[in-house]
Amino acid sequence: MESTGGSTVRISGLVRQFRTGAERLTAIDDVTLDVASGSVVALTGASGSGKSTLLHMIGAIEHADRGTVTVDDVEVTGLRRAALARYRQRVGFVFQRYHLLPALTVLDNVIAPVLPRRGRDDHVTRARELLDAVGLAGRERALPAQLSGGQQQRVAIARALMGAPGLLLADEPTGNLDSTTGAQILDLLLDLRDRHGMTILLATHERSIAARCDRLVRLGDGRVVEDVDLTDGEDPADTFDRAARLRL
Ligand SMILES: Nc1ncnc2c1ncn2[C@@H]1O[C@H](COP(=O)(O)OP(=O)(O)O)[C@@H](O)[C@H]1O
Ligand SMILES: [Mg+2]
Repeated sequence: MESTGGSTVRISGLVRQFRTGAERLTAIDDVTLDVASGSVVALTGASGSGKSTLLHMIGAIEHADRGTVTVDDVEVTGLRRAALARYRQRVGFVFQRYHLLPALTVLDNVIAPVLPRRGRDDHVTRARELLDAVGLAGRERALPAQLSGGQQQRVAIARALMGAPGLLLADEPTGNLDSTTGAQILDLLLDLRDRHGMTILLATHERSIAARCDRLVRLGDGRVVEDVDLTDGEDPADTFDRAARLRL
């Protein structure tokens, strides 16, 4: 697997509103945020605070009503169709419920997002390497239903890495997993970051997960209400104290 260095993300004055009947709800309310290359940021906040919407806007799944998202040198919020499709290929997305295709094998699930580009055989070697990297060597021919939740999330992570993304967006990736399996998934993400230099934005409301990230950004009603550098002058291994002290 090639290293991509890790994208920088610059978010400025971002706004997203939803109309529900006569009401207009501001899901993202003037968010400004810079994310450094190679950092792992925990996005926290109560349910409905805007975590998913923000991740979707960074990944260009949702449009912005105002403001900009810039990833490396690309202003994502200004992209038109062809460029938007290219950008989406460069970003990895991992969801809480894995979203694997049930009729496809593990290997074909990993290859699926890049299949329109070149033939299947061109991608098999890389997909096998990725499955090995996420600890699933030997399970290539299994179907998703034959795997545990943690294993299915590993497949989803391998799939997200197929395009060698500089940016990985993960929406509550451990939310469906028990705490031990969730911790192992975070171990994997941190290891992948260390080895490949990705930037990771991860929505979570589990304090044990957030405490192990480099930075915590908390949303409340679509606004940034807390932004803490968790690596600042302390032992990064000391996450229990950190979680308690920060009241995560
Ligand atoms: N497609 C949509 N239509 C209407 N309202 C939405 C839509 N998506 C999200 N919302 C609303 O936007 C707010 C933020 O939602 P979301 O980003 O899903 O929060 P979180 O991921 O933190 O739980 C919530 O009030 C939610 O109901
Ligand atoms: Mg959400």
